[in-house]
Amino acid sequence: MRQFRYATSQILVHWFSALAIVFLLITGTFILAELPNTPEKVGNLRIHMLIGGFAGLLVLWRFWLRGRHPVPPPVIGHKLARIVRMAMNLGILLLVISGTVLAFQSGAFEAVFGSGSLPADFMEFLPRKVHGILTKVVMGLVALHVAGALYHQFFLRDRLMAHMGIGK
Ligand code: HEM
Repeated sequence: MRQFRYATSQILVHWFSALAIVFLLITGTFILAELPNTPEKVGNLRIHMLIGGFAGLLVLWRFWLRGRHPVPPPVIGHKLARIVRMAMNLGILLLVISGTVLAFQSGAFEAVFGSGSLPADFMEFLPRKVHGILTKVVMGLVALHVAGALYHQFFLRDRLMAHMGIGK
């Protein structure tokens, strides 16, 4: 039987989102959060904010596409997978909201896209703490999502990843 395959637009949006989220989680944790808030940090923050906003738009775009294309047939564990996916999408949207509120509240938005300066410490602001906790939650959910895909691919051998354009 021929494998189900998402529409090309859905596959592209999925892999661009994955790239953006993994990039933001890794560089945010190991570079951005470690840098002192000097003017040299502004360029890094600008990239983070732009890609972060773009990641949020991709989530909304994915929702929109999902309503317009066929859904895959149910597989083992699809209910759990759906819960993980929904939590991940919610987590990403909350990251964008908390990041945006933080950027305005701390003056970072003005510093990055205008002429102000960065705050002494982002941790003084509650949305920064929320943003930091959410990043850990989303990391866990991404790990579960990837583990589920690999479990199907290599243990159940049902070629589930072909849905997202990997293999046939
Ligand atoms: C999916 C979207 C996003 C992800 C995955 C993400 C990820 C991260 C990560 C991993 C950190 C470091 C957290 C830590 O180690 O405690 C961080 C910090 C930060 N993020 Fe985001 N972020 C996203 C969106 C945004 C957006 C849209 C903005 C602003 C418009 C933003 C602004 C910030 C700021 C200001 C910091 C603090 C940097 C510091 O402490 O020096 N983020 N983000």
